[in-house]
Amino acid sequence: MNRREIILCDPAATTRLGFLLAGALRTGDVIALSGALGAGKSVLARGIVLALCPDEADIPSPTFTLVQTYEPADGPSLMHFDLYRLESAEEALDLGIEDAFVEAVSLIEWPERLGPWLPRGALRISLAPDDSSPEMRVATLEGGPRWHPVMDQASSLFTE
Ligand SMILES: Nc1ncnc2c1ncn2[C@@H]1O[C@H](COP(=O)(O)OP(=O)(O)O)[C@@H](O)[C@H]1O
Ligand SMILES: [Mg+2]
Repeated sequence: MNRREIILCDPAATTRLGFLLAGALRTGDVIALSGALGAGKSVLARGIVLALCPDEADIPSPTFTLVQTYEPADGPSLMHFDLYRLESAEEALDLGIEDAFVEAVSLIEWPERLGPWLPRGALRISLAPDDSSPEMRVATLEGGPRWHPVMDQASSLFTE
């Protein structure tokens, strides 16, 4: 398990990280996005969705629906989960999250809500504000070998 810290100096940088990650995604990948409300999880998820579905005019945050599905022109389906309002980890199974883990690419806000159901192979990204600027976020990326190449790319593109 590797761990990298990078600086995202503004929302555009967070979107660029989304584009970088999007280029590396394949079926069965899971990206867990942690951080407080307003940390930038949805900005990052939107960057990934936009990179894979450039014609998508509207990328809503699945706050109430809990999940939003996208069908990129090529590549696997993309499922964006926002589990903030999840009542129990079991409820996530009703959303088809287990199928998503196998057949799709999953982006998960509030992955802590899944408890033990979060796949061990997920790339974990946690976003935190920084005192130096209201536009700045520190992103901590943690993942196994499958994620090391893209983590290396991220740390060469963004300041550590
Ligand atoms: N570096 C940054 N990365 C992402 N969002 C940022 C950044 N700086 C400021 N913001 C702002 O913070 C807010 C993040 O909102 P959002 O992505 O919905 O948060 P979350 O999904 O984590 O609750 C947005 O209003 C965005 O413009
Ligand atoms: Mg959000």
